[in-house]
Amino acid sequence: MGKVSSNDRTLKVGVAGLGVVGGGVAVRLTKGGPARKLIGALVRDASQPREFPTDDVIFATSIPDFVAQELDVIVDALPDGEAGFALIEQALSQGVSIVSANKQALAGRLEQLHCVARANAAALLYAAAVGGGAPMIETVSRARAQGPIEKISAIVNGTVNFILTKLADGANFDDAVRQAQDAGFAEPDPSADLSGGDARAKLSILSYEAFGAEIDLNEVKTESLTPERAASMLKAGGVWRQISELRKNAAGLISASATFQQVDIGSVFADARYQDNALIVMTAVGEMFSACGEGAGRAPTVDSIFCDLEQLK
Ligand SMILES: NC(=O)c1ccc[n+]([C@@H]2O[C@H](COP(=O)([O-])OP(=O)(O)OC[C@H]3O[C@@H](n4cnc5c(N)ncnc54)[C@H](OP(=O)(O)O)[C@@H]3O)[C@@H](O)[C@H]2O)c1
Repeated sequence: MGKVSSNDRTLKVGVAGLGVVGGGVAVRLTKGGPARKLIGALVRDASQPREFPTDDVIFATSIPDFVAQELDVIVDALPDGEAGFALIEQALSQGVSIVSANKQALAGRLEQLHCVARANAAALLYAAAVGGGAPMIETVSRARAQGPIEKISAIVNGTVNFILTKLADGANFDDAVRQAQDAGFAEPDPSADLSGGDARAKLSILSYEAFGAEIDLNEVKTESLTPERAASMLKAGGVWRQISELRKNAAGLISASATFQQVDIGSVFADARYQDNALIVMTAVGEMFSACGEGAGRAPTVDSIFCDLEQLK
């Protein structure tokens, strides 16, 4: 599993990004026991006030300065995929383990990053990057341990699910998006969620976990959530969800899609409301595995990060 601390010493943690997710991790670390200590943080502006005691925390505004701190593990909670990738690659190459929530940094690069991690005896964990509080990565790996996986169907985007549920409640499109932003689920620019880009990145990560290979992000059949598409779903009636799917055919080819589908009332997917995520995995011998939970927001994401940190005791 890579570089870990022994049980009798404190895990030295750095947190990159102190926003919704990273701020929550830092707050919990500073309130926590001696098993883990917040040593350093990477931010854009080190002079900003923070929501936790900062006296013992070393602030860095560049990746090299941050990675130069004596850290056992870095929590990547950066909102930027390219900065996240640069951070992860540099940290792993110096033997520092990574716990990442940053799907855009990981998608399409997992093979490369796992290679760097293995070569430097570092761990690379990312449960929080897919599913938030729904243990999707763990469930897929549990299913894979039982035999080849044939199909995955999932609600992976809590923000889109929140908007779809609000629309069904009677909100208009702009209000539903604004409410998702006010609740901290959607970014000020919600285009990655609405275009399906977020779902594609998560599908690629799930594909790596399920089949050992990522997908070509450009080959994913994707529908955007637009006011027109929302109106057509409402007009058709029933319960609609963004369903992300991965299938591997007999020839070993993987296909992926993220489309809007009418789901059965009472199904796992219909019951996933607001920011919930849900996942169903089918193995080639017909066994089914499932997971559900809150897919977006500070609390479930921080919980998921701490589950990964727990593995590095
Ligand atoms: N929000 C969620 O519900 C959720 C759920 C699951 C996964 N995620 C993932 O978690 C990650 C963080 O999301 P978030 O919502 O916490 O983002 P956020 O609130 O926008 O985080 C912004 C933080 O990152 C710092 N930052 C931004 N760009 C930086 C850069 N280039 N170099 C150094 N620091 C930088 C900012 O520094 P300053 O404070 O100095 O401005 C700020 O502390 C994302 O990858 C997201 O996809 C989020």
